[in-house]
Amino acid sequence: MSPGLAWLRAIALTTLLTASVSYARDEILFTSSVTYCDPPETLLVQQFDMVYFNKNESVFFNISASSVEENVNVTANLLLNVYGLTPVNVTIDLCDILGGALCPLPQYNFVGSDTLSLPSSLNVADKIPGIAFKVPDLEGYAQLSLLEVGTGDLKACVQATLSNGWSTHQPAVTWSTAGVAIAALISAVWQSLSPTALAPCRFLDLLYLYQTIASSALLDLNYPSVYRAFALNFAWAIGLVPSSSEQNTIDHMRYITGGRMANSTSGSAIAFVNRKLSPYNDQSLISTNTASSGFSPLNLGRRSSSGIFEQIKILSTEGVATVTSSSSNVLDAGVPIYTNSIHIATANAFMTVFFAALILTAIALAVFGLGYVGLLAMHRFRLGRAERRVELKALYSSLVRVWSLRLGLLFLYPIVVFAFYQWTLKDSWLSILLSVIAFLAVACGTGYSAFIVMRTAHQSKAYALYSRPAIISSHGPLYAQYRTARYFFFLISLACVYLKAIFIVFAKASGLAQIILFLTVEVGVMTSVFVLRPHRTRGADVLASYLAIVRLVCTGLMIAFVERLAVDAIPRVAIGIVMAVIYSVAVIVVVINFVLHCGIQQLWTKQDTSQHEGSANDAMVEKDDRGSSFPDLLRPKNATPEQNIPLDPEINEPHTPLTPPSAEGEQNVNKRDSASTNFGNLLPRRWSFTPLSSPADSHLSHPSLSSPYHTQDATRHQHT
Ligand SMILES: *[C@@H]1O[C@H](CO)[C@@H](O)[C@H](O)[C@H]1NC(C)=O
Ligand SMILES: *[C@@H]1O[C@H](CO)[C@@H](O)[C@H](O)[C@H]1NC(C)=O
Ligand SMILES: *[C@@H]1O[C@H](CO)[C@@H](O)[C@H](O)[C@H]1NC(C)=O
Ligand SMILES: *[C@@H]1O[C@H](CO)[C@@H](O)[C@H](O)[C@H]1NC(C)=O
Ligand SMILES: *[C@@H]1O[C@H](CO)[C@@H](O)[C@H](O)[C@H]1NC(C)=O
Repeated sequence: MSPGLAWLRAIALTTLLTASVSYARDEILFTSSVTYCDPPETLLVQQFDMVYFNKNESVFFNISASSVEENVNVTANLLLNVYGLTPVNVTIDLCDILGGALCPLPQYNFVGSDTLSLPSSLNVADKIPGIAFKVPDLEGYAQLSLLEVGTGDLKACVQATLSNGWSTHQPAVTWSTAGVAIAALISAVWQSLSPTALAPCRFLDLLYLYQTIASSALLDLNYPSVYRAFALNFAWAIGLVPSSSEQNTIDHMRYITGGRMANSTSGSAIAFVNRKLSPYNDQSLISTNTASSGFSPLNLGRRSSSGIFEQIKILSTEGVATVTSSSSNVLDAGVPIYTNSIHIATANAFMTVFFAALILTAIALAVFGLGYVGLLAMHRFRLGRAERRVELKALYSSLVRVWSLRLGLLFLYPIVVFAFYQWTLKDSWLSILLSVIAFLAVACGTGYSAFIVMRTAHQSKAYALYSRPAIISSHGPLYAQYRTARYFFFLISLACVYLKAIFIVFAKASGLAQIILFLTVEVGVMTSVFVLRPHRTRGADVLASYLAIVRLVCTGLMIAFVERLAVDAIPRVAIGIVMAVIYSVAVIVVVINFVLHCGIQQLWTKQDTSQHEGSANDAMVEKDDRGSSFPDLLRPKNATPEQNIPLDPEINEPHTPLTPPSAEGEQNVNKRDSASTNFGNLLPRRWSFTPLSSPADSHLSHPSLSSPYHTQDATRHQHT
């Protein structure tokens, strides 16, 4: 293994693994959100921050609360729910404790913060299992409810979710996945000087994997918090890049165009998660007291003494929200919880994706523009030989077209999903208009390419797709990685995008239906990869099969998250962690595969390419190892441009070379080899101006290439 490869591999592993296992930290538990679980009457809470330090068994609190009702005797119930279990459920009649000092409840305004050492007699540290301080995305909450003695009316109910500070949603993971993607992009752009380079395909594979992980958390399922948090690391890959100023702009834009849905908040979304879901796991939802649900500041004010009004004002601006099963601010499973967890309002999701797409498009246009200016400058100042300038120009326009298509393919999934989603919301008309425009742009852009490819394949034979520069240099990203007989495989991927988007959005009422439909799609994709084996090399097919299996397995595991099955929280968390691990390993595999095949090792082993030919095999146009007679694009031998049209199409049908060639057939094969190398005669010269050697060099420079390649292939693929 070359040093560069080892280095890159080490980076890929360490960033992904160590990023999630961050530095040692104090063992703490703290309240991560506070909400009323019943409209407040007796107890008003403005702030409720508590931190428990396990090290010195002390509690820090910063609380601002007041009890405001006169002459009410209550019992207090403290409930602790951890992973759906209730280790603590104690009810105390406040008249029985402290000599009746809390009986009736004093009207009292408490504002203060302090650190208290808990008495060692309580032995708290031994009562809390150590795992509570370590498990990421702890699912638990504490609930204090006050019930009136006698009537049993619910007078107050406050819930606080607990956290230990650990989460699988780590900025470091987000940044390293994005960093890997950017490195892959740069490498892919570099390699894409050849229209059939493999690195750009691998780059798209990587991004599709990211998108798969991100979108796996968009279904109407009761995901464990740990998996939801893990999937949030990949939200950027579906264009959900949160920025508070952008969110404010979108809020404003929606507001003035008729949007009345909730704005983005900078607060934690956990507070609003539907109580039936993680991290609350509350199957037996506390029954809302209908008598008290008519809460309004006015009727509270009438009942209470003066001075309360100011407190209510503080409350409504500070906003400890009331979240009950019947309130409208509850976030439901799927897109709402996912986007709000990163401070993107549900109704802002599409616009956020849209802006991300717009910004990337602008960057791409700027880069294209710079390239064009460079070309013009070369023309103007007559740099380089004239014929090379013409070549460069052709190469440039092909690069622009190819990367525009790739950009479209990259944004197809997020834009389709969130545009569809926007259509199901009754919100700002401008959002909907823009979503229609964006949807049409990506759908038509990619659809047009797909149409051209299919038409070409229909009118001529499929190999025409691979031999006509005009087609492959514009639409290559769709099919160039597939072997000639399987050029149509891209249709399956495109169909998946639309099907999944439809399932995510229009079946969002039923998680069970979504998961069944997703499973059907994944089984279909896996079967088609297994049966069709569409890729040029066995290695690529193995990778595609592996990814298909990963998706299928993880989709299958998500059955456990179906709400109706009511799987307990702990098994769900275990499954969520398993899924996160499976996906992380898949990401590492794809990254390693990319590093192995992007040809970086060529920089170090350039001198003895002959020895490394085997390892560079996948990097560029690969000869078909299944006997399909895909013309070797990189074979410039005897290329004669006049013979660009292959003489005998039948020869190019798959598997024909396996038939024993007659003397005439042999001749035809030779003719075909030379005749269809219109790329072959362009590419070597294209490559010749690149300062660094490309992986294709090994093919080109290797003298043994003049020997029949079938035998060479056979030996080479035994190496892979
Ligand atoms: C308590 O909270 C208030 C309001 O958020 C803040 O101003 C104050 O600094 C906090 N006190 C401590 C000790 O953190
Ligand atoms: C509350 O309890 C105290 C002591 O038991 C009693 O004197 C008082 O009348 C009770 N108030 C109400 C409203 O029940
Ligand atoms: C907690 O205990 C009360 C009775 O003390 C009971 O009514 C309630 O259902 C319990 N709650 C849970 C979640 O077990
Ligand atoms: C316990 O440790 C924490 C963090 O190290 C510290 O902030 C707190 O003041 C300590 N408590 C006491 C009572 O010393
Ligand atoms: C959303 O924000 C806008 C200002 O950007 C404001 O006018 C509007 O009232 C807010 N809508 C809601 C529902 O809070």
